[in-house]
Amino acid sequence: MSNKSCFQLSVSRLLVQGLAIVMLLGVGAAATAADKEPRQWVPGQPYPPELLDQYPCHSYELECGHLPPPPIEKVEFNEELNGDAERGEKIAINLRWGNCIACHKLPGHETGSGTVGPSLVDYAERGLPHSYTFQRIWDPRVVNPNAHMPVFGPNRILTKNDIVDVMTFLYSKK
Ligand code: HEC
Repeated sequence: MSNKSCFQLSVSRLLVQGLAIVMLLGVGAAATAADKEPRQWVPGQPYPPELLDQYPCHSYELECGHLPPPPIEKVEFNEELNGDAERGEKIAINLRWGNCIACHKLPGHETGSGTVGPSLVDYAERGLPHSYTFQRIWDPRVVNPNAHMPVFGPNRILTKNDIVDVMTFLYSKK
């Protein structure tokens, strides 16, 4: 082997070793970043199991099963209804988000839904006030203390924007 090719060989070996170290450092940095910031739940996606301990348990046998529900929230809504109907439909039919379809027939989704709640297929035609519908979805306990509907607002399941989008979907299907 000539001196020249020997030099080339050691340069390329150095390069490979350098690259490996840089990659290792990169992986290490990413791992520490992930350790520091817990994953956030992305609505519509599976709930990260490591965040489940933020929720009280559902067993009446245990202390944590006696935590009170969030206080009832009475809300006003007298704005123009100009949300995103397409996004609202996605929220309404996604079982990891609004999941209205578990209990209601929805416009364009007349079959395969649950029937615990009244059909919302012709909801737009019923001309119910926006303020009533917003309250119904934000916190149904204001309308009916024993409502069999999730408490979407106070439990921070749906934001105001999410509900406006769902309502835009419900009211736009005439
Ligand atoms: C677990 C079942 C369940 C889910 C999930 C559910 N609802 Fe309901 N909903 C009901 C029931 C039951 C009623 C009937 C009245 C009551 O129980 O208070 C109702 C009533 C309503 C009403 C009033 C209808 C009327 O005729 O006055 C609206 C509007 C409504 N739901 C919208 C929604 C929307 C939008 C979603 C999703 C974001 C949703 N619901 C999710 C069960 C549910």
